[in-house]
Amino acid sequence: MGKVLLICSGSGGAGKTTFAVNLSIALAKQGKRVLLFDINVGRRNVDIYLGMEDRILFDLGDVISGLCKLDKAIIPYDLCDGLSILACPQYREIEGFGAGHVKALFEALRQRFDVIVTDCPVSIGTTLRVFSSGADSALLLTVPDHTSVRNAEALNEKLAALGIEKRFFAINRIDKQYSGTGSIPGINYIARTVQLPLVGMVSEDPAIHIANNSGMPVVLDSSTDMAMRFEAIAQRLDI
Ligand SMILES: Nc1ncnc2c1ncn2[C@@H]1O[C@H](COP(=O)(O)OP(=O)(O)O)[C@@H](O)[C@H]1O
Ligand SMILES: [Mg+2]
Repeated sequence: MGKVLLICSGSGGAGKTTFAVNLSIALAKQGKRVLLFDINVGRRNVDIYLGMEDRILFDLGDVISGLCKLDKAIIPYDLCDGLSILACPQYREIEGFGAGHVKALFEALRQRFDVIVTDCPVSIGTTLRVFSSGADSALLLTVPDHTSVRNAEALNEKLAALGIEKRFFAINRIDKQYSGTGSIPGINYIARTVQLPLVGMVSEDPAIHIANNSGMPVVLDSSTDMAMRFEAIAQRLDI
């Protein structure tokens, strides 16, 4: 049975979608059957980072409303065997979708995939509360600034209270120019504050930003340093 991993953060822009996309590809490269599931209703981004905007004919809302079957809304990603995506609606809400529906949906997805990587909305809102009811683990992201670290700490407590026992964190957008100078929170301080196993660190790198915007995730080219970073995190994840 597949496992559901939530990719979340206490502050916006910490890199949830970047990590969800690159880790999904890295996990698929390991031979796993991976579903990258975008639950950012109204703020769908995964398809853009994968260059799949034109491929989304049906989404989760269509499945729930009965317009199409689940398998029709699951779209294989052409550039990496083993990876598929399930999008959420961009221009409408999903009405009347509760914990019971999420459990049934995740059960159906667990039959089809080894890992369901879920790109979450920021912090804990209604959507994440509902979806967390069916999840196995969570990767929390923070960037090295005090607001992001404090919000990660708060989110960690909420996820624990929601019963997600397996939680780990990663630090994104580490700027080598300031790291270790004392002018921004250092790695040790962040690790002491968040109090979770640290599974990886990713630098601030324009290559990531350009890759996201061109719909060609960095991890596709295994020869790069950035790709190796994400592949190492995927290896380390105990999901
Ligand atoms: N390590 C990084 N280096 C440079 N830019 C990054 C990095 N991680 C993310 N970004 C950029 O930061 C912005 C927010 O990233 P995103 O993954 O969309 O965050 P979130 O999903 O948490 O809102 C995007 O413009 C993305 O391209
Ligand atoms: Mg996002």
